[in-house]
Amino acid sequence: MQSSKHDTADARSGGQDEEEGVHFQKVIATHQHYSKYATSANNRRRKDFLSLPREDRQLLENIGYSSRLDEVDAAILKNKHFIDQLVEHPEIFGVAGEEIGDLGGCDEADGHQHQHTESSHPHSHSHSHYAPALQSNNNSYKPLEADLDKLRSTLKQLVRDWSTEGEDERKASYGPMKDALLAHFVNVPEEERVEKRVLIPGAGLGRLAFDVASLGFACQGNEFSHYMLLASHFILNRTTHVEQQEIYPYVHSLSNALDKKSVLRSVKIPDVLPSSLPPDSDFSLVAGDFEEIYGAEYEVDSLEPQSGQWDAVMTCFFIDTAKNIINYLRIIHRILAPGGVWINLGPLLWHWENNQTNDLSVELDLQQVKALAREIGFDISNEREIPSTYTNNSHSMLRYTYNAAFWTATKRA
Ligand SMILES: C[S@@+](CC[C@H](N)C(=O)[O-])C[C@H]1O[C@@H](n2cnc3c(N)ncnc32)[C@H](O)[C@@H]1O
Repeated sequence: MQSSKHDTADARSGGQDEEEGVHFQKVIATHQHYSKYATSANNRRRKDFLSLPREDRQLLENIGYSSRLDEVDAAILKNKHFIDQLVEHPEIFGVAGEEIGDLGGCDEADGHQHQHTESSHPHSHSHSHYAPALQSNNNSYKPLEADLDKLRSTLKQLVRDWSTEGEDERKASYGPMKDALLAHFVNVPEEERVEKRVLIPGAGLGRLAFDVASLGFACQGNEFSHYMLLASHFILNRTTHVEQQEIYPYVHSLSNALDKKSVLRSVKIPDVLPSSLPPDSDFSLVAGDFEEIYGAEYEVDSLEPQSGQWDAVMTCFFIDTAKNIINYLRIIHRILAPGGVWINLGPLLWHWENNQTNDLSVELDLQQVKALAREIGFDISNEREIPSTYTNNSHSMLRYTYNAAFWTATKRA
């Protein structure tokens, strides 16, 4: 992927664009102010250290506490170097209908739309998107803890999707999903897989979608978080060699650390070169809200018709992002072609439960989700629990393992 082209596909009102632009500015500002805020959290530790009696300070010096704080500062600066690159060219997301030339190389849920597609045909991919109105002076926004948290999470998700360290985590989650996809299309010769269209909503940083495209399928990821979109765009389009970037994803908390490595180890990304996809592969990322883009029953403005257009939908740690799971399941059912398969893996950590914004939230248990899927018209098979982690720090004293629900489901005829 060597160049990038943007086409306008803006079906929204000016008001929505404005809101979108303001939101995007905040995301950019959060990236720009990252080091100031991260360093100030570390300075609090330093201030507390200095407030201790001399004898206590000496003890902590002896066990390397104060030098650890200096190392944390140095790691934050390295992260800053990486994060600055993510927002070096924010205009690629902000200029509708404009072609971008050679780029020189190959959350969570922030609830805003922005559609871009990257379809890889040899050395180019195109974006059609809801373009936020971007202004250049965006420095005045003071990021909230929630904004910074999304950025810190993005660093950990880069480990999950694009590092050698994330391989075990990917094998546990993406592995069974890819196996199920291959099993469903076992009678399709490899060279004909590109005729099978696979959609991955809530694609995060895009690795599962990339892997599915690498298997030869036509694969489209969909994602609406600008944090995810900025980072995936950077990895996919501006990486020229394996392990080009070094990040310190675990430097922001000293809790549950076993040792120095728990906090201060660096992780190199990416573990594979995104441009290694064969030239005839079909890989795209569409930015925007899943329900808005794929949920329209009829062709709306510039949005493509979706009903019956997909041979597979793969949802990984996604269905619990629904406010109303009925909508998600109905859309998945409607957009699948006859004989199409829905492959799911993930927990039910309902993202909108107890929200402070008065948003609707329907929280079902697993049996209810499956019963609903059957009501909507799916036949479910291959049901099992798969232990899987999500952005796990393998050197932490705290490691969550989900008993993620896995199934494949076919659209009842
Ligand atoms: C828990 S993450 C999982 C990411 C990825 N599938 C993985 O396994 O690493 C859920 C993702 O869904 C995205 N998401 C949530 N609601 C969405 C929506 N309505 N439309 C598109 N993406 C959405 C979030 O931004 C987030 O990246």
